[in-house]
Amino acid sequence: MQRVSHHLLLCATATKAKCCDSVLGAQTWNALKSIVRELDLENAARPEGIVLRSKADCLRVCERGPILLVWPDGIWYSDVSPDRVKRIMEQHIIGQQPVEEWILKRTPFEAINGVLSAEIRPQINPGKD
Ligand code: FES
Repeated sequence: MQRVSHHLLLCATATKAKCCDSVLGAQTWNALKSIVRELDLENAARPEGIVLRSKADCLRVCERGPILLVWPDGIWYSDVSPDRVKRIMEQHIIGQQPVEEWILKRTPFEAINGVLSAEIRPQINPGKD
């Protein structure tokens, strides 16, 4: 099984399109796909692990979309756009510095689980170290 560094969930073209215009959502999803490929984040040889991306139908925010949830960091970005996707990928996913001014909320994995911490995350997803 491949090591996964991040899973990106984007609500962009929801069935009920509550959080954003569906055209903007589709453009943002296409930009996300392109930039993930352009930055080679799906490369199985990437030491940190691959970056997965999924289009979510609704992330239960339903305003200020498109909404991008970055796991396992628990960072929720609002008002994501094709222009913003590249900076989020470069600064947050590669540089490990979230783009603070675009964060809607944080639900860190540690807070949800109550026990697990970032320090033991590698044990959950041991990869090929
Ligand atoms: S429709 Fe996008 S979060 Fe609900």
